[in-house]
Formats: sequence, structure tokens, C-alpha cells
Amino acid sequence: MPLRAGVSPPAAVFEQTAGPGRERPPLIRAGGIKFMNIKDSIALKVSELSGISAEEIAGWFETPPTPDKGDIALPCFKLARTLRKAPPMIAADLSAAFAGFSGIVKAEPAGGYLNFFLDRTGEAKNLILKVLDEGSSFGSSDEGGMRNVCIDFSSINICKPFGVHHITTTVLGHSLSRIFRHLGFNPVRINHLGDWGTQFGKMLVAFKKWGDRGKIENAESPMRELVDLYVKFHQEAEEHPELEDEARAAFRSIELHDPENWALYDWFKEMTLKEAQRTYDLLGVEFDSYNGEAFYEDKMPAVIKELQDKGVTTVDNGMTIVDLSAYDMPPCLILKSNGGTIYPTRDITAAIYRKNTYDFYKNLYVVAYQQNLHFRQVFKTLELMGYDWAKDCVHVNFGMISMPEGTFSTRKGNAIYLEDVLLKAIEKTKAIMTEKSPDLPNMDEVARQIGVGAVVWGPLYSSRIKDFTFSWDKALNFEGETAPYAQYTHARCCSVLRKAGAYNVEKADWSCLENESCVALIKAIGALPASIASAAEKYEPYLISRNVIDICSAFNKFYFENRIMDDDEGVKAARLALTDAARTAIKTGLYLVGIEAPERM
Ligand code: ARG
Repeated sequence: MPLRAGVSPPAAVFEQTAGPGRERPPLIRAGGIKFMNIKDSIALKVSELSGISAEEIAGWFETPPTPDKGDIALPCFKLARTLRKAPPMIAADLSAAFAGFSGIVKAEPAGGYLNFFLDRTGEAKNLILKVLDEGSSFGSSDEGGMRNVCIDFSSINICKPFGVHHITTTVLGHSLSRIFRHLGFNPVRINHLGDWGTQFGKMLVAFKKWGDRGKIENAESPMRELVDLYVKFHQEAEEHPELEDEARAAFRSIELHDPENWALYDWFKEMTLKEAQRTYDLLGVEFDSYNGEAFYEDKMPAVIKELQDKGVTTVDNGMTIVDLSAYDMPPCLILKSNGGTIYPTRDITAAIYRKNTYDFYKNLYVVAYQQNLHFRQVFKTLELMGYDWAKDCVHVNFGMISMPEGTFSTRKGNAIYLEDVLLKAIEKTKAIMTEKSPDLPNMDEVARQIGVGAVVWGPLYSSRIKDFTFSWDKALNFEGETAPYAQYTHARCCSVLRKAGAYNVEKADWSCLENESCVALIKAIGALPASIASAAEKYEPYLISRNVIDICSAFNKFYFENRIMDDDEGVKAARLALTDAARTAIKTGLYLVGIEAPERM
């Protein structure tokens, strides 16, 4: 997505972003931008009058108990000791000092509080014009300065099912890459393939004994054919344990790049990836690199030598390890007693490679919490090697997903494929849509957008660490807090605007947007830039999806309580402009969590 030049950053994203010579705007954590700026200016003014620092005062603000009592409350008793006056007196004095203050219509004393009433018309006008002007770049910034953020996500395993359990890493990583791009970073999307290890020896043995190349190549699902062979290997090995030895020898031949076996191994990869691509296409997910575990094979010896030269490793029972007992962790294994490398060795090598290749600002791993220890060990080892950038490596961990269909295991061959879940959702959506809107022209396309949105929403709507249980009824509910509900609200905005035709924003009478439901909608839209910034800061896209739902509920309330096609041209233009801003904000928010927004549904 193109970044707009000269858009002032709505919020700074990270504590440590300031590079040499980079000025950083103040960190804004929550609430709308406009509302935030006014708080800052109130705090500044009170600071001038009291001598207390503006930062301290900015932390005091409260929200009045009901909206008719104002928008922001300042508790004046906090100033009593410094100013040596009773709080009601302070409130009265300050009230006078705020007469004619820009952005505030009145400051009203209420007991020990001073309640500020914001210039809602001004707020509304500024925000709506900003959203309409920025369009899909609403909430974007150049904070990132095009610095690289590596995002290791999806990272599927070759010859294993691309199962539904891969959904969270895939959609979370995809969303984070869009969020970082929106904030001016350059995401490097890495699919760190699981394409190395003894299982490929098993695959070779199984394929040579029972496989049929033509059948696999022409199958509807080559991946499943390969997985079937893998399952068969395990069944057979129970009765013929000597197969395990054959498998080890076969993997050794791959390690030695035996031409025939290497070609087969390459073909396994090709078949798996070709099929995985279908799932990625449904989701709209893309990668910049497919460098997986095998890619680091020839890069590991140098790293192992470095580990040894720096005295980071010790030898224990023939194994090369990093003793992490001082950090309350079990040792990190580097070399097995037979000299073979393992998973951590490859991740340590990959991290160094990424630093050298991309000079990343952050290096993220979107991987389930089962691997918490693994990443703590890897990051600690990098630190012990003297790499201060180890602190920029982040394990973006997440909880488990369970399906109504129950649990599954690759070896037993009853995995649930993500592609199947997506296709089922699309089919179910199509049935619903055929009933709701039989005349929809691009039914298939819309059914895909809604079906996929419904499935990916779950893991993106709660804090990522929470375990999540998928439910078909919940996912496809058009009235709950779901993607279809957000998409439906977006389509409703589009329909209003389509039917209204062109409107003249110059003629808008912004004062008609002062009522409760308009203010709530404007606030929800205005909060989006800060939600985007927090989502990046905490690696939590759900902060955006929740904000999108807030906008949608506020819009639907606004829609029922205000006649958009009013006879008064000024009123009509203002309400259409607000509808247009809501449409833009919903679409932008959905885009950032990887969900499409059809215009009709
Ligand atoms: N392929 C692994 C799995 O499915 C995930 C890899 C995560 N990335 C990494 N650099 N270790 O469990």
C-alpha cells in the first residue's frame, strides 16, 4: 500500500525507536488523536498556572460520569496542596482561565472537578476531513523510516499437513506485516520451512517402497498423498523396526546431497508448497522468503565454530551444549552426540543470517507458546555470543486453537486441513448469501471474502495468548462481534453512499453531528490510529479488530438514530461525510487484520 508523504505520525510506536538523530513524537497510548491533543494542551495550561509538570497533570484526567457533564474531567483536589486553596475554588479560578481556549466550548466547575466540554463540531469536522483526505492510509505514519522488521510466520513443515492449527501463526503474522507496513516499516515475511530432519529419511524410504509418482502428481491433494506415506511408514515401522535404520541412512544420503535422493527430496518440497499455495491464495497471504531449516545447512559450521571459539558451548556426554543453568533454563543443545545439528542450532544460525542480511530493527517469531523455552534458549545463547541485537528478537507467542471436530495427529492421519476449513466456511457462507441476497452479482467472490474472514477472525479478536475454541455458529453469525458483521456494516455504508450519489462536503453543516450517537461514532473512528500504534507496540492485532467492531456498532446506532438523507443539504452532507469516514475506517482496519471488505453483500 502506498504511504502518504507528509502525513504527521498519529503516534509513536516504540519506546526505543529513536535512532541516531531521530526526533520521536510523544507516545500516545489510547483514545482518539484529537482528544489526546486537547488533553495535552489542557495539561500544559494547568502546568503554567500551577507549576506542576504537564506530564504529571496529563495522568490525572478522568471521564465525567455522564456525557452531559462534559468530555474530560480534571480533579482539582490534586492541585489543592500546591495552590493552597479549596478544590471548588481552584475549579472556579481555572474555569475563568479556560474561557475562549481553542478546542473547548466551556470549562464548568462541578464540586472539586473542572469539567471540559470539547468543541464537538470542530472535532467532527477535523477528523472527518482528515479521514476522507487520507483514505486507506488513515492511521498510517512514517514512524518506521523503512527499517526492516523480520516476521517469521506460518513456517509450515514439508510432507506434513497444512493443518488448521497453523491458522493463528499464519493470520497473525500476515496481519502484523500489514500493520508494520502501515507504520512505515519494511516487513520481511519469512516462511521458515520445516524442511530438514530425519522425517525426510522416512519419506524417502516410504516413497521408494510404496509411492507412485504419477498418482501423487495428479492427485487432488499431493500433500495428503505424501502424508499418507508418512503415516504408513509409522504403521509399518511398528512391526519392522529395521525401517528406522533405513530411514536414518536415507536421511544421511540427503545430508550428503546424493543426487537421486536429493532430487526426490526437492520434489517433496515442490509438491507440498504447490498445494500450500492454494491455502495462501485463499487467505491472500504472501511471503518474501521461503528460506527454511535446510537453507542453513551449509551456514551452521561457521556458527558452531564461533560458539566454540567464544567459549559459549561445553561438551557434555558427547553432546555440545550451552549451559544455561545460571539463567534457570535447561541446556540449549547445539550438536547431538553423533555430531548432527538440531532445531536450535538452525534457529541461532538463522537469526545471525537475518541480522547480517536485513539488519533488522526487530526480528519476530510468530510461534505457539509451546516453544517458549526454545526461543528463550535461542535468544539467551545469541546474547552470550555477544550480540546485543538479541534483545530485538521477539517471540510473538500465542495460544492453542481447538476445533469442534476434536483433536488430531499427523501420524494417525486424521489432521484437519486449513484449506478444508476455509472451503467449508465459503460453502456455508454461499448458502447463507444465496438466501439473503440471491441477486448478488459476484456471489462466489463475496462468499470467499466473507467465509475466509469468518474463519480468520477468531484468533485475531482476542489477546493472542488465549486459547481459542472455534465454533461454526459463532464464526458465521452476522450479528455478533464477527468479521461478517464488520463486513456487513461496511457494505451498508457503501450502499448508503451509492444510493446518495455525490455529496458536497464543502456544504456540510457539521453542527448536526453533536448528538450522542454521532459523537460516539466520531470517537470510535478517531481512536483507530492509536489502536494501530498499540497493536504494533504489543504485537496484538486484536486491538484493531476490537476498534473496528466499536466503529461498526457505533455506525449502526448512528444509522438508526439519524436520517442520513435529510432534506437539509448541509445536514445530509455532514451525515454522508461521516458515513464515508466510517466506511474508510472499517475498511482500513479490516485490511490491517488481513480481511477483505466487499462493497455489496
Ligand atoms: N515449523 C515449526 C513448526 O511447525 C515452526 C517454525 C517456527 N520458526 C522458527 N524459526 N523456529 O512447529
